[in-house]
Amino acid sequence: MTHEFRNVSAGNEANEFDVTPWSVTGSVNYDNLIEKFGTQRITADLLKKLASMTGEIHPLLEFDFFFSHRDFDWILDRYQKGENFYLYTGRGPSGKVHLGHLMPWMFTKYLQDKFDAPLLFQLTDDEKFLHGHNKTMAEISAFTDENILDIIAIGFKPEKTKIIVDTKHIKHLYPMALEIAKRITFSTARAVFGFTNSTNIGMIGFPPIQAVPCFLPSLIENKPTPVLIPAAMDQDPYWRITRDVAEKIGYYKPAQIHSKFLPSLETSGKMSSSKPKTAVFTTDDSETVEDKVSVAFTGGQPTVALQRKLGGNPDICPVFSYLQYMFDNPKESKERALKCRSGNLLCGECKQDLSSNSVSFLTDFQKRREKAKDMVSQFMYKE
Ligand code: TRP
Repeated sequence: MTHEFRNVSAGNEANEFDVTPWSVTGSVNYDNLIEKFGTQRITADLLKKLASMTGEIHPLLEFDFFFSHRDFDWILDRYQKGENFYLYTGRGPSGKVHLGHLMPWMFTKYLQDKFDAPLLFQLTDDEKFLHGHNKTMAEISAFTDENILDIIAIGFKPEKTKIIVDTKHIKHLYPMALEIAKRITFSTARAVFGFTNSTNIGMIGFPPIQAVPCFLPSLIENKPTPVLIPAAMDQDPYWRITRDVAEKIGYYKPAQIHSKFLPSLETSGKMSSSKPKTAVFTTDDSETVEDKVSVAFTGGQPTVALQRKLGGNPDICPVFSYLQYMFDNPKESKERALKCRSGNLLCGECKQDLSSNSVSFLTDFQKRREKAKDMVSQFMYKE
């Protein structure tokens, strides 16, 4: 592995895991990760405060999919005092978009709606070209164009959402990237990202580009402006170095709300676009979705008789997770878990539920994705 993240290898030997922005391996212990990365757990008190402002607790918070943060409480305090914040999230366009990608984006849309927040959405085509050796820039650009349709189909407000494509918008990013780059030493970058002597120097120079949208809102608004980043926990190294330079260049540290990684349908690892069978893509037709879900890994027993006798384990079941995070309401999900554990629910039934819910969700999503084709220029940061 080129980018071994020595600082955050955690757990005992039998239970080793590794989290870097470019790979997640092993079975992740999230409590451990909070400690290693130095973030805060999202507490019941914080949820209460949020609920007092939004009127409810979103299922992705209730079920602990978003589980960690930095300065989310501070963002809410500021908001209550009348200071609005921007949202910032992004995507590395190395392949097609799958269901797992949509969850943090749907949550971001929810935050945009609740707080009427502007959103910057960055596509790091440069990063995905530099990382790995297997894709040409033309291939990455084709994925970028396709991914933009998925982003628009989420339903973000066109007047409040701007998409940044790094290679296309570089002239708007570069001056700020220089301010940031000048203040990060190689020894810091190496420690935070685990760069080695064989890492290509493009990768080493890339992190400031992902940091820039943390500060662009302050340029746009012409005053220091709070920014909240909803993203999976593997992106945290970027925010750590960004937070270190923020005050030196006169801006607020960006705040984060971190999600867990989504399981693939095949094992308990992360769903991956590079292993097509383990992921349901937004462009899959009904038959393909049904096929993929029907062979998914579950937390069930090998036979029906054993399942009835011993019950299944929803904690390790990707089918359960997808239903919980995307389709069941909290009450349904709790009932599903109980029935599963007590042997009163068979995996076939859960797969059927996931399959039919995904098909109807995707039917609708694909219509919006078609319409998105006429909306692209409206969403672009600047032409
Ligand atoms: N590096 C991210 C990836 O590979 C893409 C990204 C850029 C991003 N900016 C972001 C993700 C902000 C979350 C938040 O997926």
